[in-house]
Amino acid sequence: MIILKNLSKSFGSRVLWKDLDLTVEPGRMLALVGASGSGKTTLLNCMGLLERPTGGQILFEGSDVTRLGPGRQRRFRRDHLGYLFQNYALIENATVKANLDVARRRGTRPDQAAALERVGLAGREKEKVHYLSGGEQQRVALARLMVKQPSLVLADEPTGALDSDNGAMVVDVLREMSRSGCAVVIATHNDSVRDACDTAFDVAAQREFAPR
Ligand SMILES: Nc1ncnc2c1ncn2[C@@H]1O[C@H](COP(=O)(O)OP(=O)(O)OP(=O)(O)O)[C@@H](O)[C@H]1O
Ligand SMILES: [Mg+2]
Repeated sequence: MIILKNLSKSFGSRVLWKDLDLTVEPGRMLALVGASGSGKTTLLNCMGLLERPTGGQILFEGSDVTRLGPGRQRRFRRDHLGYLFQNYALIENATVKANLDVARRRGTRPDQAAALERVGLAGREKEKVHYLSGGEQQRVALARLMVKQPSLVLADEPTGALDSDNGAMVVDVLREMSRSGCAVVIATHNDSVRDACDTAFDVAAQREFAPR
């Protein structure tokens, strides 16, 4: 369970949000919505410890992860987080397989081939990531999440670069991951992605509502 408490974020005099309270539960999918510039990506970045909130707390299983030192933050990211961000975190100059290898956790033997097949990239292990299309790279990142099985997935416009079939596939995979107990947070402008979530949070209005 992730609890955001009194969270605020400003850039200089520009206040994105303040006193934001939100709970993200395991097994649930939460959509972050709101106008462009309302701070959805910034909120994901704060939850992913890529950016510091200006104030407030982010409690993960009871402890405030914003206060962890750099080493423990790194471990938290490695052990618990999965990112599905555009242009983020794939190793461009390495093969598809090498990108999946980094998600492998000690003592596990995840099925990389099955994950690649699920995202429509069967047999593409040896290709270099920088030769893949944007949508293919996004699907490699999705396969990597399936291999990693993180407890919290943070997805920023995960269907943005995809055609509608692949967009639906991404949502289906995220739903499967949430069913297995993962908490999934998706920033999106897409109404059908929002409607596939259990709950939605409007970042601008700081209001949670039931989609559909
Ligand atoms: N490092 C930064 N320094 C200054 N301003 C920033 C920084 N990062 C983001 N911002 C500003 O914060 C605001 C919110 O940005 P953010 O990317 O979180 O919005 P968003 O809701 O994700 O928008 P979109 O729907 O267009 O993706 C924007 O006005 C942006 O310019
Ligand atoms: Mg954004």
